[in-house]
Amino acid sequence: MSGMDEQYSLQRRVALVTGGASGIGLGIATALLNRGATVVIADIRADHIDRASAALSVHGERIWLQRLDVTNPRDWLRVRQEVTGRFGGLNALCLNAGIGILGSPLAARPHDWQWVIGVNLRGVTLGLETFLPELCTSAPGAHILATSSMGGLVVADNDGLYACAKFGVTALMECLRLELAGAGIGVTTLFPAAVNTNIHDHARMRPRELSDTGLAADPEKVRAETEMARSILRNGADPLLVGARAVDAMLTGRPYVFTDQFVAPIVQARRDALLAAAGSAAIS
Ligand code: NAI
Repeated sequence: MSGMDEQYSLQRRVALVTGGASGIGLGIATALLNRGATVVIADIRADHIDRASAALSVHGERIWLQRLDVTNPRDWLRVRQEVTGRFGGLNALCLNAGIGILGSPLAARPHDWQWVIGVNLRGVTLGLETFLPELCTSAPGAHILATSSMGGLVVADNDGLYACAKFGVTALMECLRLELAGAGIGVTTLFPAAVNTNIHDHARMRPRELSDTGLAADPEKVRAETEMARSILRNGADPLLVGARAVDAMLTGRPYVFTDQFVAPIVQARRDALLAAAGSAAIS
């Protein structure tokens, strides 16, 4: 996909977007559809799938919605079988599904780690393992995009588990960008800051079998944090514009996409701290 003329390059191209039925994923799917691609939206939530299906029905047969839990290898195999059977292959893989669960690693229990790392990081590696052979077949011109986060570059208060997973996504994408350049597969990482989506609504998506949590010990605190997130996100970026910017970056082969300029000083502060430590690192 990288480096091609954007008006024509997505015709007859097939893309899969995880978490594509809401928020940023829906924005990415919409931008891909607007540029002529056929899009498989894969999402765990039936209510989001129903809404996306209605909103995108104008695209007719170029849109295909699938129920998929990114943590479930059997779901991935089923979707791969159906995608290859129906379309013959895949040109772009957008690994966007994630859950914005706040909480300290000091309070976390095994189920918390399993859920947060499972969806946010393992969900990305499973998608990659499943579809890399199809992407290699459709290269050159194939592309992988993953949605990391500002939490994948800097750590903030109370986001330790999430940051562990998202730093992992960042590292994986940077590694893939190096390793797949020779194979003609482009790699782009998206680092959203505040985007106006349903991310504040994720706590209630916790699977019943992973219910033993240490993160929600104080329900009043959780409620206040959720409310604060909701009000910050209400003023966040429009997910349709974020999706369009992400697809532009895929088409032009750019490595990184940000959604707000105000994050530059935050990234700079981390870089400066690392450089200061590295500059005085001589061990004698
Ligand atoms: P959203 O809630 O609007 O969309 C996320 C979609 O992912 C939902 O439709 C949800 O059903 C789906 N999903 C969740 N778990 C899944 C699973 N196990 N399998 C398949 N689908 C699953 O939220 P948003 O904000 O659009 O989230 C998209 C990505 O953006 C996430 O990776 C999130 O971490 C990231 N992000 C979002 C930010 C924001 O401000 N909204 C900031 C930084 C990162």
